[in-house]
Amino acid sequence: MKVTQAAYACSAVSPDQYPKDRLPEIALVGRSNVGKSSFINKMVNRHKLAHTSSTPGKTRTLNFYRINNRFYFVDFPGYGFAKVSKEERAKWAAFIEEYLTSRRFLVGVVHIVDLRHPPTADDKLMADWLRHAGLPTVVVATKADKVSRGQWPKHVKAVREGLGLNEEVPVVVFSAETGEGKDKVWGLLLDWVDA
Ligand code: GTP
Ligand code: MG
Repeated sequence: MKVTQAAYACSAVSPDQYPKDRLPEIALVGRSNVGKSSFINKMVNRHKLAHTSSTPGKTRTLNFYRINNRFYFVDFPGYGFAKVSKEERAKWAAFIEEYLTSRRFLVGVVHIVDLRHPPTADDKLMADWLRHAGLPTVVVATKADKVSRGQWPKHVKAVREGLGLNEEVPVVVFSAETGEGKDKVWGLLLDWVDA
């Protein structure tokens, strides 16, 4: 898709702060520091739209980005970040679960994992949760620029098996550095937006 407009719209820590304009929403979930914000920036060709950081736990609210006035990317706080207090984590978990289970404009979830490493226990929990919730999901295995191309199939297999994915869940090899996988992901996401 040719992105002509990409703009930060709002941040939410409670449902009354979600956007009101009823556009479809696509959520980005994944481990802290895996590359969710970088994914958004690469998809829309804007280096600094979503805040990225080498410090995990940077994104702490649901951040909505309006794309071409057609849909929203919703950047999530990462899971599995040890330095967050138990209390705060429980609060986020409840809020995020509320969004994922009851947001009527949510059309699909991009689950981002690291192509370099087998999925973590938290990744597996998220994949199980998404499957049970019945949400349309694409798994994006990012940081592919850090793995030699010949190794990709082996790593994709580890991701698929580690997450216990059903056949119908696509796994796309991606890199926010090189743009690998970008067109393929757009194809999948636009199917959700246009459905
Ligand atoms: P939180 O908001 O803290 O959960 O992190 P995040 O998932 O939004 O990760 P973010 O996009 O901030 O990226 C974390 C780090 O990984 C940054 O240093 C990025 O530059 C780096 N990074 C993200 N994607 C890629 C990629 O495809 N390749 C490489 N080499 N580095 C990446
Ligand atoms: Mg982030």
